[in-house]
Amino acid sequence: MKINRFASPCLLVPVCLAITVLNAQSSAPHLEKRGQATQLIVDGAPFLMLSGELHNSSSSSLAYMEPIWPKLEALGLNTVVTPLSWELIEPEEGKYDFMLVDGLLKQARASHEKIVFLWLASWKNGMSSYAPLWVKKDTKRFPRVVARGDEVEVLSPQGAATEQADSRAFAALMRHIKEVDSNDHTVLMMQLENEVGVLGDSRDHSDAANKAFAGTVPAELTAYLKAHHDTLYPRLRELWDANGDQTSGTWAEVFGDSPRADEIFMAWHYARYIQAVGASGKAEYNIPMYVNAWLGGDNEPPGDYPSGCPEPWVMDIWRAAGTAIDIYAPDLYETNFMEWCRRYHRDGNPMYMPETRGKEAGAADVFYEFGEEDGIGFSPFAIESEASDKDPLGESYATLAKLAPMILAHQAAGDIHGFVLDRDHRSVDFTMGDFVLHVSLDNSFDGQAQSGYGLIMATGSDSFLGAGKGFRVTFTPQPRTGPHVGISYVEEGDFKDGKWIAGRRLNGDEDEQGVAWRFNPHGQTIEKVVLYRYE
Ligand code: DGJ
Repeated sequence: MKINRFASPCLLVPVCLAITVLNAQSSAPHLEKRGQATQLIVDGAPFLMLSGELHNSSSSSLAYMEPIWPKLEALGLNTVVTPLSWELIEPEEGKYDFMLVDGLLKQARASHEKIVFLWLASWKNGMSSYAPLWVKKDTKRFPRVVARGDEVEVLSPQGAATEQADSRAFAALMRHIKEVDSNDHTVLMMQLENEVGVLGDSRDHSDAANKAFAGTVPAELTAYLKAHHDTLYPRLRELWDANGDQTSGTWAEVFGDSPRADEIFMAWHYARYIQAVGASGKAEYNIPMYVNAWLGGDNEPPGDYPSGCPEPWVMDIWRAAGTAIDIYAPDLYETNFMEWCRRYHRDGNPMYMPETRGKEAGAADVFYEFGEEDGIGFSPFAIESEASDKDPLGESYATLAKLAPMILAHQAAGDIHGFVLDRDHRSVDFTMGDFVLHVSLDNSFDGQAQSGYGLIMATGSDSFLGAGKGFRVTFTPQPRTGPHVGISYVEEGDFKDGKWIAGRRLNGDEDEQGVAWRFNPHGQTIEKVVLYRYE
C-alpha cells in the first residue's frame, strides 16, 4: 500500500493542531462590516446582544451569583455584562487567581448566557478602588493624581509602572480566557476600565503631569488631527480651528488656555495608557474591546464629569492614541437618548450600549438602538434588580429575540428603522423604498397613545414587517405623482423557530378601516403589511 508521506500520522497531527488553533482564533468573536452595518460575529454569524449589566459587586461572589443567572435567562438575556476586579485576579504581584473567572464562565454556560467582562483595574468611575492593595500602598512606584491641590486616591495615567502592571495582569487574564474559552466563545468582548477621568479638577496637576502639560503636543496627535480634520467631532474641530490648527506647540498653545485643553490632555494620557493595556490583552486573545463614558453635559466643565473620559468630543483624541479599542460606548441614562446615540454612532464607531436605563424606558429604547442605530448590544444597568417576570424589558427581549436574524440582515441591508414616540415627539417620517412612512402615536377609541415605540423592516417593494406598540403608520408613494397606494392587508403573527405563524388578519377598527397600519398601545405585536397600487 503506497503511503502518502504527506499524509503520514507523524505529520498530520501538527497540521491538524495548527488548523484547530487557527480556526479557534479566526472564529473568535470579532467585529465585521456586513453591508452597511458593523456587527458582532460569534461562531461565524452576526449576534445581537440582548443584555444587562450586573451591579458592581455581584460577580465578586460565585455563591451570590448562583441564584441570579436563572432569573437573567428567564428575563430573556443572552449576554451578561460582568465586572471582574484586578484586586481579586492578582492579590499578590505576579500571582494570578482565575477561580472566579472559571466559576463565572461555568455558571454563564449553564444558563446559556454569553459574557462581556468589565476589566475594573486602574480606574472605575474616575477612582482606583479596584486596584490591588500592593498597588494602592506603593504611591512612589504607582503615582497618584493631584487634583484641587491635593494628592487624591486615584492612580495617575502618567504612571508608567502602573500601566505596565495593569497591562501584565490584563494580558494574563486574556491568556487564560483564550485557554478556557477559545472553543466555547462565551466571552464576547472586554470593557477596558470604567468611566475613567479626573473628577474635581480639569486635569492631573502632579509633577509628571505638569511637566508633560508644559511640553509639546505629541506629533502623532496633531498629525491625526490634520489627517482627519473634516471628520473630527465638531466641537473638537472648532476648538482646534479657533487656535489656528497648529501642528506643534504646547497643549495650551494648540488647544487654547482653557479647561478644554486640560480635558484633551487627560484624554490623550488615559487613551495612551488604556490603548496599551488593550493591546497587551489583544496580543494574547484578540476579541473586541471597548471603553465606556460617564456622559458630560454640554455646558458642564470637565471635572464635574471625569475629565479625559471618552466623551464624543474627545473620541478622536482616543483614536489617535492607538488601535486596540474597537468601540467607544456611552453609559446612556439621559432622556435625550436618541441624540446621544447619534453622537456616538458616527465616523465608523459601532453603536453599543454597555449601560443604560431599564424598565419602560429601556423596553422602548432598545427598539430605537437596534432599528435606527445598528446597535450590536443593549444593556440596562443593575439588571439583577430588574429581573422579574413583570419587567417590560422582558417583553421587548422576547420580541427582539424572535426577530434578531431579520434585524441583523436588515441592519446590513440598510432598510430598517427604529423609533420611540411620546407626547413631545409624536411622529417621525422615514423614506423606505418607494414610500415615505409617516409613523405617529396610535389613535384609538380611548384617544391618542401616551407613548409608542418599535421598528420597521422593508421585506419587499410593497411589504413591511413591524414590531412594537402604540404607533400607526401611513404610506405616501414617492414620487407623489405615481399610482395611489392602499393597504392590501395587515396580518399579525409570531415567529416560532424562525417560521412565520400567521395570526389574525387585522381589518376594520384594527387598521382604521384600511387607512393605517396600527400597533395598539396595550402590548407588543409583530405584524406584516402588504400594500397595493391603483390608478
Ligand atoms: C455608572 C458606572 O459605570 C456603574 O459602575 C455604576 O457606578 C453606575 N454608574 C451607578 O449609577
